[in-house]
Amino acid sequence: RRLAWSACLLLAGAALAAPQKAPAPVLIRFSHVVAHDTPKGQMALRFKALVQARSGGRLRVEVYPDSQLYGDDDEMEALQLGAVEMLAPSLSKFGAVGVPEFEVFDLPFLFHDLAQVRCVTQGPTGRQLLERLSRQQMVGLGFLDNGFKQMSAGQPVQNLQDFRGLRLRVQASRVLTAQMRSLGAYPVVLPFDETQRALASGVADGAENPLSNFLTQHLDAVQRDVTLTSHGYLGYAVVSNPRFWASLDDADRSLLTLALNDALDEGNRLSARMNQQALATLRESSGVRLHALSAAQRSAMRRAVQPAYDDFERRVGRALLRQVQRDCL
Ligand code: LMR
Repeated sequence: RRLAWSACLLLAGAALAAPQKAPAPVLIRFSHVVAHDTPKGQMALRFKALVQARSGGRLRVEVYPDSQLYGDDDEMEALQLGAVEMLAPSLSKFGAVGVPEFEVFDLPFLFHDLAQVRCVTQGPTGRQLLERLSRQQMVGLGFLDNGFKQMSAGQPVQNLQDFRGLRLRVQASRVLTAQMRSLGAYPVVLPFDETQRALASGVADGAENPLSNFLTQHLDAVQRDVTLTSHGYLGYAVVSNPRFWASLDDADRSLLTLALNDALDEGNRLSARMNQQALATLRESSGVRLHALSAAQRSAMRRAVQPAYDDFERRVGRALLRQVQRDCL
């Protein structure tokens, strides 16, 4: 009897001492289209570092910048197929994949400053928009600012007649194509990684970019004039694949969520600074001429873009725009 009891204890001890099965490593491939040295690039690297440190290396983030892995044309599909786990496309790119509500952020001259944008992205409207991504097999995880866009071309674009006949590169957003048409230009829809070449070869005459993107894509080598229009906003939504997100255990999902929120906070603090730095760099460079808008030029542009609003309201509806205006402007 005593022997049997000792055998039991022995077995129990062996079970306790048996090595625990280590939790499986997790790989998160995070693809994006801009340089490391941009608000989005820096946010992705910060996310990677935080995840690495907080998980002791068990959760691993690989960041693929500069459209190395996927570009604008195929990154959403890659996410939906599970070829990557995370992306941060610009908000302008969600309309083309069936969530046109995101194009509200493209409406020209809607926002005066980043505080107004944040009121939308960090409030109930932002939450509703992220939830809408589930319609297109995406989990919306948060928003990141880049900043306000400036117009570049081989000439200043301060008056409406300056736009006439110019071919201006835009992202695949119907609000942005309507904006360029209403200014008198021809919109040329191109993926981000083809923009520099298109400007160099004359396929496009100009573009609209936050200065951090303008500089890190070396557009200053192919555009002589930058007009400081700050006419529209460019920001991002971080998204993941719902199957991947659901496959994580609760602890890992919450580690990733917290690390991402911290990285987004830091990215949002960085974005205004990076665009200011880019402006300072351009001011010092001899290659690019900077032009300001007078109040009258700005109001003329603002009046001219009304058709972009009409088109948005016809396609997407009035309710969302009214909600943004009521809550945050
Ligand atoms: C663009 O295509 O101009 C931007 O969306 C690029 C980016 O991701 O900032």
